[in-house]
Amino acid sequence: MVIYLRGDLGAGKTTLVRGLLRALGVTERVKSPTYTLVEPYVVSKLYLYHFDFYRFSRSDEWMEAGFRDYFNRESVCLVEWPEKAGGQLPAPDLGIVMEVDGNARRITVSADTEAGQTCLARLH
Ligand SMILES: Nc1ncnc2c1ncn2[C@@H]1O[C@H](COP(=O)(O)OP(=O)(O)O)[C@@H](O)[C@H]1O
Ligand SMILES: [Mg+2]
Repeated sequence: MVIYLRGDLGAGKTTLVRGLLRALGVTERVKSPTYTLVEPYVVSKLYLYHFDFYRFSRSDEWMEAGFRDYFNRESVCLVEWPEKAGGQLPAPDLGIVMEVDGNARRITVSADTEAGQTCLARLH
């Protein structure tokens, strides 16, 4: 499962991932991967990888960093700033766009694959 998180700096992308991990029972500190590029989490049999590609300046850096193997059938990849990783990044199952609206946030979620649609359907 690949989830793209789009939105300006401060839109709430990291906060949303933190909330998701907390809801899954992760109690350890959830740091922003701004400097490490990726923070890994294991929840039961799930491997969750939280990426932040904000600091990428060239789109081929994603391939060079060797992140391809993180995107596999056993993993959930949550990606902040996917647009900075260039065209090699696997396509998303879910696309999340966040915008600041006063003191609140507006969130738009779209499903781009059947797996993504199954996820969205379960929210209803
Ligand atoms: N839904 C929200 N309502 C109010 N404040 C929020 C919300 N989501 C995030 N924030 C605050 O906004 C700031 C930036 O959030 P962050 O998740 O780091 O943004 P991003 O990862 O998109 O750059 C943080 O101080 C956070 O506490
Ligand atoms: Mg962030």
